[in-house]
Amino acid sequence: MAGVKISGYGAGLPKLAVTNDDLAQIVDTSDEWISTRTGIRERRIAVDETLTDLCVEAAKAAMAQAEVMAKDLDLIIVATVTADLPLPNASCMLQRALGAVNATCFDLSAACSGFIFAMNTAQMYIRGGAAKTALVVGGEILSKILDWTDRSTCVLFGDGAGAAVLTASETEGILGITTGSDGAKGMALNFMEREIANPFKKTSGKIDVDDMDVSRFLYMEGPEIFKFALTKVPVSISEVLKKTGYKAADIDYFVLHQANYRILSSVAKRLHVSEDKFYVNLDRCGNTSAASIPIAMAEMSRRGLLKKGMKIVIAGFGGGLTWGAALIEV
Ligand code: UT7
Repeated sequence: MAGVKISGYGAGLPKLAVTNDDLAQIVDTSDEWISTRTGIRERRIAVDETLTDLCVEAAKAAMAQAEVMAKDLDLIIVATVTADLPLPNASCMLQRALGAVNATCFDLSAACSGFIFAMNTAQMYIRGGAAKTALVVGGEILSKILDWTDRSTCVLFGDGAGAAVLTASETEGILGITTGSDGAKGMALNFMEREIANPFKKTSGKIDVDDMDVSRFLYMEGPEIFKFALTKVPVSISEVLKKTGYKAADIDYFVLHQANYRILSSVAKRLHVSEDKFYVNLDRCGNTSAASIPIAMAEMSRRGLLKKGMKIVIAGFGGGLTWGAALIEV
């Protein structure tokens, strides 16, 4: 079987919905600022859920739609920068919870592009014959790395997980993928989970990477990342269209990483495509990093928006810096 198709999607979201007005009680912000600058109105925040819980919920829904049993999975990749534990990794935790005893499991760290990078890796495993059925999950509990006193970041993000099942197939469901990275600009979006502390280190404190400050909480130069997204996203989408021989007008839906409505709107203009073709759920979920694309795809699938033969472009961008786009045929 030469092809790879996506045969199921699922999402797992925390129960607690936090509105912009709720945040205005915590930091100096307003619903007006957040909604006009970003399009975000509320986000889900994990209180009782772990990342594993959210990944399990997303994975089970995707597996049910794909009609795949846990023992059928031979590969699990979780794209995340906020695993419950550094060790064991999030994908092994998910494997244990699912009982997917035949799977090889590893995590992939590519921030908001993580789902596309993980999907690319999984499809290569399948095309190379190393796997037949892969579970690809993007999941984040970003709320645990946010500085809840910093209004420039804490209002933007949400928690959640999205999953897709990829299977070897007679027909082709992933028509093309393009990815890229620019580490030189990476410190524009960073955080450090732990400081280096060992008997040989003389002083404790923040790690310097080439004399650049690393933040203990998520730090983002918003306008820099905004400019990067406006440049790179249209280019990567154009690249994947060129690679596959399609035009923007042939695409039924564009599902971009849900960071900011103004980014989606600008990309639509650049591609000369109606904004109506851009799926939006950032108003309800905020920016869930690696989870945003599969959560959106799961919602679209549940709402019956994905019809056989449709062409969908997905595009991720963010920390690293990283970016990627893929053309999917439903
Ligand atoms: O997921 C990874 C990829 N991430 C992204 O793609 C994010 C890209 N960046 C963005 O979406 C936007 O840059 C932001 C939404 C983060 C910020 O929007 P902006 O229009 O670039 O605002 P800004 O950072 O230039 O700030 C404008 C003003 C500042 O005040 P002054 O200096 O003009 O007086 C900020 O202090 O808005 C202020 N501000 C706020 N005001 C009320 C920043 N955050 C807030 C806030 N509430 N939450």
